[in-house]
Amino acid sequence: MRTTIRDIAAMKRRGKRIAMITAYDYTSARIVENAGVDIILVGDSLGQVVLGYDSTVPVTMNDMLHHIKSVVRGTDKVHIVGDLPFMSYQASRSDAIRNAGRILKEGGAQSVKLEGGRHVTKTMRRIIQAGIPVMAHIGLTPQAVNQLGGYRIQGRTTRAAVELIEDAKAVEDAGAYSIVLEGVPSQLAQLVTERLSIPTIGIGAGVHCDGQVQVFHDMMGLYTDFTPKHARKYAHLAELMKDAVSEYIEDVRNLSFPSEDESFTLSPEVLAELAGEPKIATQNER
Ligand code: KIV
Repeated sequence: MRTTIRDIAAMKRRGKRIAMITAYDYTSARIVENAGVDIILVGDSLGQVVLGYDSTVPVTMNDMLHHIKSVVRGTDKVHIVGDLPFMSYQASRSDAIRNAGRILKEGGAQSVKLEGGRHVTKTMRRIIQAGIPVMAHIGLTPQAVNQLGGYRIQGRTTRAAVELIEDAKAVEDAGAYSIVLEGVPSQLAQLVTERLSIPTIGIGAGVHCDGQVQVFHDMMGLYTDFTPKHARKYAHLAELMKDAVSEYIEDVRNLSFPSEDESFTLSPEVLAELAGEPKIATQNER
């Protein structure tokens, strides 16, 4: 049985911090699950770190489903959250329910995440009423990058902070089982965390949240176009991988790859026949 939303709620009550990481494919999902992470988010950040777009805006439902399915195939214990991509829930509530349903029914995830506060609570309620758990996401909401005018820290003025707290309360009232706080000053994230009974999961929101989420490619040092201030590199895989590929190229060119151990051989009999040597009679021919 995979980790459920009840298990996640219990972690806040017990004061156990929640570790969430994004993953987008079978192999990395297996690694992340084996390391013991609580939740995998198949985030629409795959638009940048896997598909090479400059934002999450172009990501489609088909992109999301393709990646969610591979993460599901690579895991069997961890809770999987699938992101609803831009314009899969904004245009109408029926779109929202249908697309959220596809993430569970076709993708195999256990819950969905969508961005927004008070203005999405009606949609959120309808999705939850359909039996689909929702993780909310407020603060810096990357799908609204064009509206926000860039990837800016949110809630810095008194008015913006009060609005962010209202957004957080509204999504909790709407039934969200947890909430991502992205790009929010740590003191504000602490206030929200203390005032909500659902777990807060921070990214660029300081240490006082009930849990943290990081983008796999940022923490592994795989995505080198840009490193956000909030990201800590736990490995430098891009450099390691580049060195490994350079070594391979060198080995191919100087004939040290493949070795005898990495090759397959013909039997001496077959080799002799191919070379036009007298045929060696087999047992049946004698
Ligand atoms: O898509 C994503 O990876 C996210 C995280 C940044 C929370 O939404």
